[in-house]
Amino acid sequence: MPVAHENEKLKILIRSTAIHKRVVQVACKITRDYKGERVHLVGVLKGACIFLSDLVREINLETSIDFMAVSSYGKKKESSGQVRVLKDLESSIEGLHVIVVEDILDTGLTLSYLLRVLQQRRPASLRIAALLDKPSRRIKPVKGDYVGFQIPNEFVVGYGLDYAERYRNLKDVCVLTLPEGAQ
Ligand code: PRP
Repeated sequence: MPVAHENEKLKILIRSTAIHKRVVQVACKITRDYKGERVHLVGVLKGACIFLSDLVREINLETSIDFMAVSSYGKKKESSGQVRVLKDLESSIEGLHVIVVEDILDTGLTLSYLLRVLQQRRPASLRIAALLDKPSRRIKPVKGDYVGFQIPNEFVVGYGLDYAERYRNLKDVCVLTLPEGAQ
């Protein structure tokens, strides 16, 4: 069982074995869909780094990767709704088959902003891969093309997802419960 910080509680929602199995399935689908092409994966830091690194190793195509960082929730559990680019891509995506890789698709605010920005750079195609999808929280109508798991409206950590920068290293995706009175 993963170890929780102070009075926080963790409950496993998706086990690492199930995550691994699903990542392989998603990667196989990508491999089939882009047969004969090169795919350019754009990871959204920091949460997506674990998913991206597992996913890319299961894709049987020519691949390249790059990263972007956008403004984060910080220590809060809710999105501020404001997105800011903290780190831009290193190279042009013009003419490339781009897949934006996210750990979680929640309100959709981050991705709807990012997709707008990336579309302006004229990629050959632009799709989304998200390990987790919380459709019940959607504010912007963003749809994942490759989704690992749809999950209920619980606050989850692990496999790249954090709370106050903790828990990204957990192998399982867990529901986090905070002590009474905490944000
Ligand atoms: C999380 C996640 C997505 C975004 C999804 O990032 O990685 O980028 O929130 O939420 P949305 O659909 O409501 O926009 P976060 O800001 O927590 O940063 P992190 O990846 O560095 O943890």
